Amino acid sequence: MKPLRLGIAGLGHVGCGLVELVEAQARLRLPAQVSIRGVTARSRNRNRSVDVSGYDWFDSAEALAADPDVDVFVELIGGSDGPAKLAVEAALRAGKPVVTANKALIAEHGMALARLADENGVDLLFEAAVAGGVPIVRTLRDSLSGIEVRRVSGILNGTCNFLTSEMLATGRSYADVLAEAQKLGFAEADPTLDVSGTDAAHKIAILSAIAFSANLDFSKVSIGGVEDLDLLDLTFAERLGYTVKLIAEGVLTDDGVVCRVEPKVLEASHPLAQIHGSLNSVRVEGEPLGAIVVSGPGAGGGPTASAVMGDVSKLFRTGRRTAFGHAEHHLIREFAVAADTESAPWFLRVRLADVSGALASLSDALAKEGVSIDKLLQDSAHEDGTAPVAIVTHQCGRANMARAVNQLNQLSSIAGKPRLIRIEMDH
Ligand code: HSE
Repeated sequence: MKPLRLGIAGLGHVGCGLVELVEAQARLRLPAQVSIRGVTARSRNRNRSVDVSGYDWFDSAEALAADPDVDVFVELIGGSDGPAKLAVEAALRAGKPVVTANKALIAEHGMALARLADENGVDLLFEAAVAGGVPIVRTLRDSLSGIEVRRVSGILNGTCNFLTSEMLATGRSYADVLAEAQKLGFAEADPTLDVSGTDAAHKIAILSAIAFSANLDFSKVSIGGVEDLDLLDLTFAERLGYTVKLIAEGVLTDDGVVCRVEPKVLEASHPLAQIHGSLNSVRVEGEPLGAIVVSGPGAGGGPTASAVMGDVSKLFRTGRRTAFGHAEHHLIREFAVAADTESAPWFLRVRLADVSGALASLSDALAKEGVSIDKLLQDSAHEDGTAPVAIVTHQCGRANMARAVNQLNQLSSIAGKPRLIRIEMDH
C-alpha cells in the first residue's frame, strides 16, 4: 500500500499529539506508512511538546491543503469559520480527503462540507470531533446503522465534567479547577466554549445528525452550561443522593430532532453519575438493540490525536464513506427547538434570608405553580445571614418550574439567583 502524506494544520495539544503518533507509528497498527508532508500553525516559534523544525513549514493552511504532495489534509486549527473552514474547503475542492477534530466547524457547516466532499468524491472524517478518544462517530455511523435510534445522550465535555468532579472531590474553586483543565489540555483555547455548554452542543448536534439522518441545524440546539454552578449546588445535590453533570442529549420527537445541553442532577445509581474527571460517556438507545454505552478519555492531546490517526488509517482503504452516514437524499428529519412540555423531578437550590416566614414564602410560591416538594435540606445560615436550602420536587412540568422560579426571583427573602436543575432518574 502506498504511504499517506499528511498536511497537518494546527499544532496545539492535538496537533503535537498527532506528530508524536506519526513518529511512533511502529507501535501502532496502521495498514501502511504515514508521513508528514508539511505543517502549519498560527505561530512558528511557539514552545511545543514536539520538535517540528524538521518538517516543511507552510505559511498558510490553505496553501498546505492545496499542496500537490499532500494526500490527506488534517485540520486541527479549530473555530467554525476563518482559516479552518477556508482550508478544509480548499482541500476538498482539490480532491483531498480531510480529517478534522473541529466540532464547531462540523456542527455549523457540516452539511455544506459533506456536500462539497461528495461533489469532489473524497472523504470528510471527524471521529476526533466528538468525545476525543471515544470511538462514537464511526460506531454510530457504521456499526449502528442497523438500528433505529431513539435517543443519544451523555457527557460530552471533559472540561465541565472535570470541573464538577474536581470541585466536589477537593472543594477547590471553579476558577482554580478550570485553570488546571486548561493546563492539562482538556479545555478549548477559549474555555467559555466549554463552560457555556457550546462545545457539548456542537458534539451532540453532530451525533444527532448521524443518529437520526437529520439535517443538522445548530441554531435549533438549546444550550446551557456550568458557569453558574457553585460548590454549594454540588454538595447539596450530593447530600441528597445525587450528582450534578452537564448532560447533552438528542431525542427523536414528533416535532423533529431535539438537542439540548444542560446541567442535570442524576441519581447516584445512574450510569453517567459514575463518569468522573475528563472522561466522556455516550449512551445510544434504539431498536432492536436496546442501549449501549461507550466511555473513555474525551479530551486531551493524546486521546484526541489517536482518533485522528484512526480516521487517517481508514483512508488507506478505498471506497468513500458518506460523512454523516446517509446520502443527501436520505436526510429524513429536521432539527427542532426544544419545547417546554416535559415533566421531571427538579433540584432547586436557593439562599434564604434567615428570618421568620422565609421558608413559608418559598413553599407558597412553589405551591402556586402546583410544585410539590419531595425532599428538603436546609443548613444553618452562613455569615452573610442567608441559609442555603435545596429542594427536590416531585414530577413537574418545565414551564411550571420556570414560572415558580420567576416568582422566587421577586421574593425579598431570597438572595441571589435560585438554581434549577432537572433530575434524571436511573434507567
Ligand atoms: N474541550 C473539550 C472538552 C475537548 O473539554 O471536552 C475537545 O473536544
